[in-house]
Amino acid sequence: MTFFESNPHLLKSGITTTLEDIKTFFRLLSENGCQGFECSEESLKKIKNWGRKEGFSSETLEAIRTDLGDCRRCRLSEKRKNIVFGTGDPHARLMFVGEGPGYDEDQMGEPFVGAAGRLLTKIIEAINHTRDQVYICNIIKCRPPGNRNPMADEIEACFPFLKRQIASIKPDIICALGTFAAQTLLETKSPISKLRGSFYDYMGAKVLPTYHPAYLLRNPNKKRDVWEDMKKIIKAMGANQ
Ligand code: URA
Repeated sequence: MTFFESNPHLLKSGITTTLEDIKTFFRLLSENGCQGFECSEESLKKIKNWGRKEGFSSETLEAIRTDLGDCRRCRLSEKRKNIVFGTGDPHARLMFVGEGPGYDEDQMGEPFVGAAGRLLTKIIEAINHTRDQVYICNIIKCRPPGNRNPMADEIEACFPFLKRQIASIKPDIICALGTFAAQTLLETKSPISKLRGSFYDYMGAKVLPTYHPAYLLRNPNKKRDVWEDMKKIIKAMGANQ
């Protein structure tokens, strides 16, 4: 005689509990947009994100871009050709934030497509990702004339949109590229040489500042430091799986 044959009440309550669990599981699946056994990339990403950073915005990047519109919130709009909103996976676990668009980015409407961008692409590939698998954007979305540093009121006008993008994407890690991105995100005046290589908490993500790729083009001996920083990102992403 089997255990369940001699304890039929246990068998019944066991099955009932299991069926209840299955029912709850399917209800959660359907509430989170999964239809039946549909296992599309979209649904799998939603399931993967269950329980992560609850309370964060459910606003989509499209909605944020629509709200930005043909932005005239600061003087940078007068000379820009394109707003450079950001590109990549809207659910990326890893986000790169640079300073602001340069000439090439302004022409194409996409971040990091010039010489510094080509180096950033290599860095992303070195950590076994593609540009499509991460999200790339900048502190400000319009090119400052002559690539001058953005002014305080320009950042003030633009930064809320970046914060909304971060709240929507919910990345695990944000790699802040260069002094300007690191100091703006972390609200500090510390130099990048001090900030780089450590993780800081920001909006539910870990921010890791590193040198800007444009700086690396001028100082190739600093690539070793960036590689050390990238290894920390690889490790942290593994731990966050
Ligand atoms: N430098 C940046 O900081 N951002 C870009 O998009 C391009 C160059």
